Amino acid sequence: MAINQARLWSRLHELSQFGKQASGGVTRFSFTKEERQAKDLVMTYMKEAGMTVREDAAGNVIGRKEGSDNTAPAVLIGSHIDSVPEGGIFDGPLGVLAGIEVVQAMSEAAVETVHPVEVIAFIDEEGSRFGFGMIGSRALAGTLLPEHLQQTDQNGITIAAAMQESGLHPDEINKAARYSETVKAYVELHIEQGKVLERAGQPAGIVTGIAGPLWTRWTIEGEAGHAGATPMNQRKDSLMMALQIIQFIEEETKKYTNAVATIGQISVKPGGVNVIPGETTFTLDLRDIEERDRDQIEEAITSYAQSLCADREMNIKIEELQRVAPAPCSKEIRAVMEEACLTMSLEPIFLPSGAGHDGMQFNDFCPIGMVFVRSKNGISHNPSEWSSEEDCGVGASIIYETVLRLTT
Ligand code: GLV
Ligand code: MN
Ligand code: MN
Repeated sequence: MAINQARLWSRLHELSQFGKQASGGVTRFSFTKEERQAKDLVMTYMKEAGMTVREDAAGNVIGRKEGSDNTAPAVLIGSHIDSVPEGGIFDGPLGVLAGIEVVQAMSEAAVETVHPVEVIAFIDEEGSRFGFGMIGSRALAGTLLPEHLQQTDQNGITIAAAMQESGLHPDEINKAARYSETVKAYVELHIEQGKVLERAGQPAGIVTGIAGPLWTRWTIEGEAGHAGATPMNQRKDSLMMALQIIQFIEEETKKYTNAVATIGQISVKPGGVNVIPGETTFTLDLRDIEERDRDQIEEAITSYAQSLCADREMNIKIEELQRVAPAPCSKEIRAVMEEACLTMSLEPIFLPSGAGHDGMQFNDFCPIGMVFVRSKNGISHNPSEWSSEEDCGVGASIIYETVLRLTT
């Protein structure tokens, strides 16, 4: 194995201490003390790997190792270091640390690349804090707009204010944008977060494409009232309405093979035991590999909800939080990854990604490629998320062999 699997494994655990919860899971949101500590440790690792290190205007940490031709476009290896609430230790950090390991292993083996290699630890892929994710990768691709920075967290703090608080300059965010001519490809190692590889008995696989998440926030306005004194046929109960809509969302989504819908947050106002909920708000995360299918579901559930609310004289507001197009992985990079697997006597196996990843933001920017590592029981976004040391090593080695072929 070209990479040092034990070093990668020990760094994964060392990095996981920032934001570690009693459950064993990690809560590490963007622009927090925990994230800062994680970024500092990543910078230390990058320096140990022989890279020059900087932080860009968005707060992404970038390590760079020059090639023999510094005018040649760079190969980027990236992932994120934020987490969901009570997330696992692998989702994101594995890709960042594997990138660093690849560069360090190349340096130790005195591999001379022609193209520069950059490793990027992106800020806020998950969107857990602001309901808006992939902030760092959008900034790098030049698609992060000033209005995006006005999205707020649960305390009403905007992304712009949180950036400022951590010493960044939100009005200079466009300085994080790169020219696509300076980038040859983007590759990422990630845990699968599903059971395909486990069922196939394979340690790692090559990603064919990434499903696109559409995030919306739905607010239904009914009428608060007395829970005891209001007969059932005289209510405008916003929660009962929301439940009907949510049930329809489930039924509609199940008609499509690859579509998934999740109501991850729901809240009612005013929130009294004996008060009919006057206002109900919930979020919807709707995804599909096929944008057309996702559009059809969106259309069906929106018109159902609007007509039901109109019939019962309730207001409904649907606010778009983020709409990310599904992203196919580059055929050329997939072929290089296949060759990498064969070099390692590994059967190449191909699978789609239901989860979103930073690489999606580079779909119109540069060719992207991803490798997945087998997840134990397919569990992720959960403290018991797990992949073995050996599987992480295999995944990082595929990235090594891929980057070697893309840079030399
Ligand atoms: C990130 O993990 C996402 O797919 O929401
Ligand atoms: Mn995740
Ligand atoms: Mn992730």
